[in-house]
Amino acid sequence: MKRMKAIYPGSFDPLTNGHLDLIERGSKIFGELVVAILRNSEKAPLFSVEERMEMLKATTKSLGNVRVDTFEGLLVDYVAKQEASVVLRGIRAISDYEYELQMALMNRKLSPNIETVFMMPADTYSYLSSRLVKEVFQLGGSVRGLVPEIVEERLREKVNGQSKLKKAGRE
Ligand code: PNS
Repeated sequence: MKRMKAIYPGSFDPLTNGHLDLIERGSKIFGELVVAILRNSEKAPLFSVEERMEMLKATTKSLGNVRVDTFEGLLVDYVAKQEASVVLRGIRAISDYEYELQMALMNRKLSPNIETVFMMPADTYSYLSSRLVKEVFQLGGSVRGLVPEIVEERLREKVNGQSKLKKAGRE
């Protein structure tokens, strides 16, 4: 595994401590790990790809074999272009399994040489998702300990910026 290059793809909108836990675990197993942010997501993201990239780079800079990149189009095409052989994904609970199985099998159908490897983040993060982090924060709840500090800061800036904009619109 130490010689293998793996791609950890996702939306990371925003990065959570669950993602970070998986990145740290993956970096110990694989020779090189590329965290790849999807560019052409249909979802309306809270953070731009550049903002997500900045947060990911800041939090992974101490991990020498981890790189952050973006991709668009099919994941398997990106994996091939990177000359990687593994896709790394996290599974938090059984509820993740069906979606992840579908993706892994579709990717295998498209590209039989690429293997998907699943890892479990620490159980303390098993309930954690970017969607819940955004919801809780936007409704005034605390996300301390659930996201890296830089993400908490950026969430504060973003949400304050949005409420100022809304207020200005009403005036
Ligand atoms: O963090 P997410 O949103 O669960 O990540 C999903 C992601 C980015 C891994 C998935 O949507 C993806 O790989 N998209 C790229 C397009 C693609 O290859 N689709 C077919 C995969 S089955």
